[in-house]
Amino acid sequence: MSGLGSPRLHLRRTDSTNERARELAALGAPHGTLVTASRQTAGRGRQGRSWVAPDGRGLLCSLLLRDPPRLLPLAAGVAVASVVGVPALVKWPNDVLVDGRKVAGILVEGRPQERWAVVGIGLNVALQPEDFPPELRETAGTLGQGPEAIEPTLERLLEALEHWITASPEDVLEAFRTRDALLGRAIRWAGGEGRAAGVDPEGRLMVQTRQGRMTLEAGEVHLVPSTGT
Ligand code: BTN
Repeated sequence: MSGLGSPRLHLRRTDSTNERARELAALGAPHGTLVTASRQTAGRGRQGRSWVAPDGRGLLCSLLLRDPPRLLPLAAGVAVASVVGVPALVKWPNDVLVDGRKVAGILVEGRPQERWAVVGIGLNVALQPEDFPPELRETAGTLGQGPEAIEPTLERLLEALEHWITASPEDVLEAFRTRDALLGRAIRWAGGEGRAAGVDPEGRLMVQTRQGRMTLEAGEVHLVPSTGT
């Protein structure tokens, strides 16, 4: 049983669990406070994107952490992947992929100066392929379980999060490296292209480009589809 997840606020419907958790953080809610929802009307993703899941089919949660660890984005990705199981890989910084399809997204928001962070996780536990909008059908994935799997999955996720947010940075990095979806792959990002070369001790993505080795701090990277030639 994890110490995370208490107190818990469950909402049948809200705009964004991250938004609710941020409000609670500002009001002084304790470490481990959890907000869950059956449905979000304005679920937020990284890079200004939205996160959509039909009512009661996705695990939608936001966890408030006080004094979060340095490698929180990576630790959260590793925790989610460990719950999803052996085939799950993490695409830097923390998309969780199964067979190349994204089954979970993580949005970490916070106030470093106030020493708190909210980890928002959307895990496609019980979505059906037809639940995804047409533009995501090639890239989104689901665990394909029933809605009754959401609560037990949340319990396992809280235990995994407890483990990985208290793990040493070295252990988090090692676990990330064993699940690194980008390692050795051709990638591109807003500023260029290259070959992913793992993560450095700060959790930044290392990339080998024609100009030499560089690191990416944040942002979105895309796998370059192989042409097969
Ligand atoms: C991403 O991959 O872009 C991150 C998606 C994060 C979605 C989750 S769903 C629960 C929580 N509340 C939000 O508004 N966003 C996160």
